[in-house]
Amino acid sequence: MSHFETEAIRTQLKRSQFKEHSSPLYLTSSFVFDDAEEMRASFAEEKERNIYSRFTNPNTSEFVDKICTLEKAEAGHAFATGMSAVFSTFAALLNSGDHIVSCRSVFGSTHNLFTKYLPKWNIDTTFFKADEIVNIEACIQKNTKILYAETPTNPAVAVLDLENLGAIARKHDLILIIDNCFATPYLQQPIKFGADLVIHSATKLIDGQGRVLGGVTVGRADLIREIYLFSRNSGPALSPFNAWVLSKSLETLAVRVDRHCDNALELAISLEKHSAIKSVKYPFLPSHPQYAIAKKQMKKGGNIVSIELKSGIKGGVTFLDNLKMCSLSANLGDARTIVTHPASTTHSKLSEKDRLETGITSGLVRISVGLEHIEDISEDIFQALDQI
Ligand SMILES: Cc1ncc(COP(=O)(O)O)c(C=O)c1O
Repeated sequence: MSHFETEAIRTQLKRSQFKEHSSPLYLTSSFVFDDAEEMRASFAEEKERNIYSRFTNPNTSEFVDKICTLEKAEAGHAFATGMSAVFSTFAALLNSGDHIVSCRSVFGSTHNLFTKYLPKWNIDTTFFKADEIVNIEACIQKNTKILYAETPTNPAVAVLDLENLGAIARKHDLILIIDNCFATPYLQQPIKFGADLVIHSATKLIDGQGRVLGGVTVGRADLIREIYLFSRNSGPALSPFNAWVLSKSLETLAVRVDRHCDNALELAISLEKHSAIKSVKYPFLPSHPQYAIAKKQMKKGGNIVSIELKSGIKGGVTFLDNLKMCSLSANLGDARTIVTHPASTTHSKLSEKDRLETGITSGLVRISVGLEHIEDISEDIFQALDQI
C-alpha cells in the first residue's frame, strides 16, 4: 500500500464489533474507564487511549493519521480551523523574545498574528518578499527560531523554492514551517524538502465542498508533542463530526484535485489571450516567474489562477458584477468556482503601498477554479470579462 490514492482511502480506524466498512462517527465528548487503575494509567499516559475529545477522539485521530501518511510526517494534531492550527503551533513553540522570519505574502490572518498579536508577547517577525529568497539570511537574527512560508502564496500564487528554504533552515538551525494549504499533500510534500512542520487549512481543498472548517499541523514528533499539549490545555479541538467529514473527503482528494488542476490550467491558458487582461499567474504556465520551481516541487499547478486586469479596481468590480454562475465568496478550494477581488474586498482597508508589498495589485482577481465543466466555467468568466 504505497500509492497516494490507496493510502488516502485505506488508512482508517480499526473496525468496531459491528464490522462497519466505512469508519463510523464517534460523536462523544468523553470516554469511560473500567476501573480507577485504568483511569490513573490513562491520565499518566502509560496507556494510549482516548480520554476526552478535547484531547483526542477516534475520528480526529483517523484524520490526523491520514494526513501524516500522505505528508510523510511522524506525528500530527488536528484543530477546529486552519488559523487555530497556525496560532497553536506558534503559541506552543515560541517563547517571549523569540523571532520569526516569514515571507510577507502569507494569509491575512497569519499576517495579523505576526504584526498585531505575537508582538504582545515580545515575539517579532521580519518579512522577506516571496521573490527574494536570497534575502532571507540577512533577516535571520541570533534569536530567530522559526522560518515560515506558504507556497503557492495566497492570493498572488507566487512559488517559493522549498529545497532552498529547507537548506537555509538546516544551516541556521531554524524550525521550517510551511502552510501547504494551496497545494494539498497530493501536489506537494514539503517534508521531503526539509520542512519540520506542515500546516493545512482543511477548510479548503481537503474538505473540497465548502462544508466544514478544520486545520491540522503535522511533522516532527518532538514538536507535535508540544503542540498537542498546548492544544489539550487551551482547547481549539477539531469537532469529531468535522473530522469524520474531512476523513471521507481525503478518500477523493486525488481525483478531485486532478480535475481542479486540469480545469485551472486550461482556463489559465485561454485567459492569457484575453484583451482585458494584463497578465495571468498560474504555477504551471511557462510564463510564471517561478515555473521551473513549481515543476520541480509540485505534481500539478493547483486550482488558483490569479489574473491582473488592465482596468484596476473599476475593472475588477465590473467583472465580479457580471458573473452569472461563479460565486462571489471568501472561501476557496470548493467544488464551485469562486471569484474574489482582494483590492475592493479583503484588502480594501490597506493603502495601495501596503497592498503592493504583499503582491496585491488593484486589478488582481483570484479565481478558485471548481469542478464544474470547464466549458461552463470559461463561458461565464469570458462573458464577464467582455463587459469590462
Ligand atoms: C493559506 C491559508 N492558510 C490558512 C488559512 C486559514 O484557514 P481557516 O479559514 O480554516 O482558519 C487560509 C484561509 O483562507 C489560507 O488560505
